[in-house]
Amino acid sequence: MSKNNLQKRGAFVSRIGFIFAAAGSAIGLGNIWRFPYIAGENGGAAFILIYLVCIALIGLPVMLAAFSIGRNTKKSAITAYKKLSPDKPWFIGGVSGVVAAIFTMSFYSIVAGWTFSYIFKSIFANLTVMSPDQLGNLFVSHISGVWSPIFWHLAVIVISCLILFGGVKEGIEKWSKILMPALFILLVVLVARGLTLEGSWEGIKFLLYPDFTKITVETIVMAFGQAFFSLSLGMGTMITYASYVSKSENLPKTALMVTAMDTGIALLAGFAIFPAVFALGFEPTGGSSLVFSVLPAVFGQMPLGSFFSTLFFLLLGIAALTSAISIMEVIIAYFVDEHHWGRKKSVILTGIALFLAGLPSALSMNVLKDYTWFGKTFFDLMDYMASNILLPFGGLVIALFVGYQWGVDKSIDELSNGGTVKSSLFKTYGFIIKYVAPALILLVFLNAIGILNMLWK
Ligand code: PFF
Repeated sequence: MSKNNLQKRGAFVSRIGFIFAAAGSAIGLGNIWRFPYIAGENGGAAFILIYLVCIALIGLPVMLAAFSIGRNTKKSAITAYKKLSPDKPWFIGGVSGVVAAIFTMSFYSIVAGWTFSYIFKSIFANLTVMSPDQLGNLFVSHISGVWSPIFWHLAVIVISCLILFGGVKEGIEKWSKILMPALFILLVVLVARGLTLEGSWEGIKFLLYPDFTKITVETIVMAFGQAFFSLSLGMGTMITYASYVSKSENLPKTALMVTAMDTGIALLAGFAIFPAVFALGFEPTGGSSLVFSVLPAVFGQMPLGSFFSTLFFLLLGIAALTSAISIMEVIIAYFVDEHHWGRKKSVILTGIALFLAGLPSALSMNVLKDYTWFGKTFFDLMDYMASNILLPFGGLVIALFVGYQWGVDKSIDELSNGGTVKSSLFKTYGFIIKYVAPALILLVFLNAIGILNMLWK
């Protein structure tokens, strides 16, 4: 690709830039908001164990496969599939990713908005002196208001669009580099405080001693979905990001680092939250309010609590933004690559569409709260369909495509920079992508959409 062309499409300037951008996409609300609450609702340690197996056995190989497709084609998902296999319908894997991006942003932007509003609540509402009950009530009153969630949702979309105008290089790379280390340090401080609270031992047990009797098919479906969601897989994000990366980048190393950082941050969030949940008298099954009610209470037990609370929600807000822009980039790159629209036009139209798509989610806790589908509010439905159905579907297509259409050899050739990067793990990678990943994802996927259940009955 000529230098000019590279510049037009955007590219990561530095090696570390790509690592941070990919980690910036992976690390977000999924680690700090979703992971603890889903783990809490699905039994704790047993869930976490299955989650870790999913990450190592499926997540990492699928990420490698996505990287190889993206960098080889220098295209976003749909166009990439079309380029490698022009007359077969593999591009459906990319289409489902664009749909997943719309569904995901519908609720992601709302939660990012909660985070933004908690930055201000930390400064002005004295969160750190509130009792657990008061914190719970505050959260409920926030999400059941109509205008405030919509206002913050709009703010998230507008800020994301402003960052995205700058393109990959200026926007995504710069932000991710500053944020991650700061967030990591603050989580370590929170873990230290949580662990030294009286009564925190129950929380550690909850995280470390698996109760296998609590594992159900649903637990496995949820752990799978969480692994895809957290690693940003199955949406086309990693294909798109890898399309901006240089040929000399060591992709296996990047994938390993991103996976390790993402998993590390999720576990840290778990250790920051559950010891405090038990020590301070919260419920581990508190659902989507968990982070917003438990952590301010922990900050209340620290000197300079309000300051740290503000800082935490600020960093979480930025972590959410670096993920949100990666989700939006899937849609924008689709317009740029497939319809040859300019970047500005693509960003603006994507922003407007996503603002509208988020409205029913914002209203699903108030005006629309009595409208449910399969027992889920619109917000929960978007989350379930994206995380547990569309992302695993996207992952399945990646694995089948590399395993049976494009070819494991070509993927390994790309991953090894034409044989320069050596690793004994490439063989294992090929085996997993061809046999293990498709079989497992298919099983869990059929379960998630209820087909296996029907057959068993
Ligand atoms: N991985 C992000 C998080 O954990 O918050 C969310 C996400 C981003 C999911 C990009 C999927 C995706 F393609």
